[in-house]
Amino acid sequence: MTERTHVPGQLPGDLTLRHPAPADHARLQVALVGWWDGLGGEAGALQRRLLVPRLFLQHFADTSLLVERPDRTLHAFLIGFLSQSDPATAYIHFVGVCPEGRGDGVGSALYERFFAVARAAGRSQVRCITSPDNRNSVAYHRRMGFRLEPGDRTDAEGVPVHEDYDGPGLDRVSFVREL
Ligand SMILES: CC(C)(COP(=O)(O)OP(=O)(O)OC[C@H]1O[C@@H](n2cnc3c(N)ncnc32)[C@H](O)[C@@H]1OP(=O)(O)O)[C@@H](O)C(=O)NCCC(=O)NCCS
Repeated sequence: MTERTHVPGQLPGDLTLRHPAPADHARLQVALVGWWDGLGGEAGALQRRLLVPRLFLQHFADTSLLVERPDRTLHAFLIGFLSQSDPATAYIHFVGVCPEGRGDGVGSALYERFFAVARAAGRSQVRCITSPDNRNSVAYHRRMGFRLEPGDRTDAEGVPVHEDYDGPGLDRVSFVREL
């Protein structure tokens, strides 16, 4: 087996990158159910589906990214945008890499692309949030250079948590990274 080398910001192999379109909505919905390792059960899957409505593919497509294999099947995606309210900030709303494609530099390549878009638009920081029980996401964002913002409490593993951040029972971890 040959070892793949990661070039920062570059996709490995014969994967291709483009902006998503509304026609991609149905397969993103399938990915949001199947790519999160069952996190949160059926309720978690529904929450994720509702967090990526079609509007992101209609109105935030220019700053969002979709990765396909040569046969045009979905490999990965990133939904992000430039803050309208804070001219210093860009925001990553969702990222997913198919389970069989992880650990191959795709997630970091998508982030590097988004960072470049944000810098070009004059943004000086990127923000995002995740659910405290998504330990992989917390580890990944730390590895990608994000700082965890102080919360209302720290959990058993010392992760700062913002309680009820998105409503009752919807705790979140908040990340920020300077560009
Ligand atoms: C999180 C996710 C996007 C990472 O994508 P990926 O393509 O596997 O990440 P990469 O291969 O680019 O890894 C980038 C770096 O992060 C590290 N990393 C990735 N996942 C990690 C994890 N679970 N724990 C620790 N480090 C991790 C990698 O080791 C790599 O570091 P390195 O450069 O020192 O080798 C992917 O695992 C995923 O889609 N998970 C399910 C969906 C999800 O939780 N999304 C995030 C919340 S919306």
